[in-house]
Amino acid sequence: MNVLTFDTEEQIGIAAGYYMCGQVLQKPDSVLGLATGSTPIKAYKQMIELYKKGAVDFSQVTSFNLDEYVNLDVKDKNSYHAFMHDNLFDYINIPEENINFLNGNAEDLQLECKNYEKKIKACGGIDIQLLGIGSNGHIAFNEPADSFQRWSHVVELKESTIKDNSRFFNSIEEVPTRAVTMGIGSIMQAKRILIIAIGEHKAKAIKQLIDGNVTPKCPASVLQFHKDVTLMLDKGAASLI
Ligand code: PGA
Repeated sequence: MNVLTFDTEEQIGIAAGYYMCGQVLQKPDSVLGLATGSTPIKAYKQMIELYKKGAVDFSQVTSFNLDEYVNLDVKDKNSYHAFMHDNLFDYINIPEENINFLNGNAEDLQLECKNYEKKIKACGGIDIQLLGIGSNGHIAFNEPADSFQRWSHVVELKESTIKDNSRFFNSIEEVPTRAVTMGIGSIMQAKRILIIAIGEHKAKAIKQLIDGNVTPKCPASVLQFHKDVTLMLDKGAASLI
């Protein structure tokens, strides 16, 4: 595991943005696994910046997002569709038809999850997966549990995640209680993984991810078994390692 610590969130954003764009420069038709939440926003800003400068071209890129809420209109500002358009897709030249999301409004969510896995495979797998981490150690919406869920699936969100995410909604009651998410197996199959963590509230989860027991109680800990993981941390997130 490659652990990089930075002084500021700005620096992490720049480094992460370059890292993602470096993948696209190496392989213009890269398949990017993308994440939502506050953590990746500055990395996306940097990717936009590099695109605007003409340094990188996303016209052959395909993307798969990690997760989406169930029963939330994609036009709702809190949907992950809207988040990705507002923070990245609307400012770069990735073709709309190359953008993939789990559809949280699908009639048959199990089938939707199966088809998502098939599509990732058909595209040759994810070249680089960008990840945040929850304060409870979740990755995507893979919450602490008694076993690892392998492929994309429907989840009931934990109280702590609903609370963490309520800052984006008008009230905690508005936060959806279910989501569709890539599974641990889907994430582990990505060829490279980049995790960003910012803030002391992530420190415990980061410690467990780096040298704790590998357990579904901290889903991120499974990344110890991945051969190409880079962590970009600020001092707060790195404070226990
Ligand atoms: P955050 O969420 O970036 O909003 O902290 C990360 C996550 O829950 O994966």
